[in-house]
Amino acid sequence: MPYEDHSSEGVRQRARAGRRDRGNRDRLRLAAVDGETLTGETAAGEGCPGIVKPLPPELFIPHETNAEMRWEAMRDVGYHVPNERFFVRNHTSTPIIDAATWHLRLHGSGLRNPRSFGYEELLALPSVTRDVAIECAGNGRSFFATQQDQEITGTPWRLGGIGVARWRGAPLAAVLELAGLTPDAVDVMPRGLDADYVADGVDYGRVRRPIPVSKALKDVILAYEMNDAPLPPDHGYPMRLVVPSWIGLASIKWVGDIEVSTSPLASPWNTEFYRMFGEAYPPGGSAPLSVQGIRSAFELPWEATLAVGRPHVLHGRSWSGNGRVAGVEVSFDEGATWHHTQLLGPHVVPAWTRWHITWSPQEVGPHTLLARATDETGAVQPPRTTHNEFGYLFDAAVRHPVKVVKG
Ligand code: MTE
Repeated sequence: MPYEDHSSEGVRQRARAGRRDRGNRDRLRLAAVDGETLTGETAAGEGCPGIVKPLPPELFIPHETNAEMRWEAMRDVGYHVPNERFFVRNHTSTPIIDAATWHLRLHGSGLRNPRSFGYEELLALPSVTRDVAIECAGNGRSFFATQQDQEITGTPWRLGGIGVARWRGAPLAAVLELAGLTPDAVDVMPRGLDADYVADGVDYGRVRRPIPVSKALKDVILAYEMNDAPLPPDHGYPMRLVVPSWIGLASIKWVGDIEVSTSPLASPWNTEFYRMFGEAYPPGGSAPLSVQGIRSAFELPWEATLAVGRPHVLHGRSWSGNGRVAGVEVSFDEGATWHHTQLLGPHVVPAWTRWHITWSPQEVGPHTLLARATDETGAVQPPRTTHNEFGYLFDAAVRHPVKVVKG
């Protein structure tokens, strides 16, 4: 397959042209909508082709084959995002797979005992259960355009390209061990059973992306349960990877095979996409993205309406791929002053932390809320994010619009 030859200039040129084409298309889409709806929403009720579950407009914002979670729908919902509210990011469409005939094939030079596992075999292995966030690397992308006046390409998410669930499954380490992982194996590449991803006339093959063996052995889960239920079709049934703290792409859904290799593996998802390209980065782009950024969101409608002169308890959540969230501050005056929020347990590392703060708006009219988190490494959400062409990892404090009205 010619697109596997990532070293050739032809591929790089095609990738650049593809980025340009996609950019033009997405810029047109962005230009066609105004401030409030600068999310590329399709008409309410139109849904997203290829997603199986219902997508009621009060819970989701459709973006072509993807569905964004509405943050106001998380108010009073608890720590986990219920399966029917969880965002969906599909490159193509959800395949319907029969677990009875499904197999996971492990192959490659990094295994002494290449073999397949059936669904029941994997369920019979000792399991782990963990709260983990899955978040699209492009979550927050639309704010490059709306807050920083910069051009980007890709799905214009606001902040709803994230969800936290309780995942249960077999540790990938145990499965690799059963297949005879060799000491010199370096990369592990899971591949999905969804259709080939074709964009701008280029067939990139099935969604796949290598992760280092060190990460695979550390904490990756081959998950078959989401919030105590079998994985729903849209979220990877019968089996998906859950890669804690890494960009959502790494958590391959509908996994059908895993290649394990003693030499580094490549796919378009770690060469052409999911790297930072742009003026601040080397000509070939940054290293492939791995750990998620740091972000915060209010559990409020976009835009929210609040009555003047009354106390309102504002709720939100913050998360960081670097580690535990240590504190979250909120500003009601465009960042001139910041106020500490009250954090609510649990403070789970690869998931999120909930918080709240009380605000009594004193003036009728438009206002902006800002929330910024600091994590245990000292990383804090900046006022601006360095631009990259694909609009990945927007980590600046997001300007949340609020209309204060007479009570
Ligand atoms: N796995 C396959 N096979 N196909 C996909 O399109 N999308 C990835 C990842 N795994 C994808 C995939 C991306 S970019 C993200 S952000 C997460 O799945 C989204 O998981 P979710 O749809 O369960 O929320």
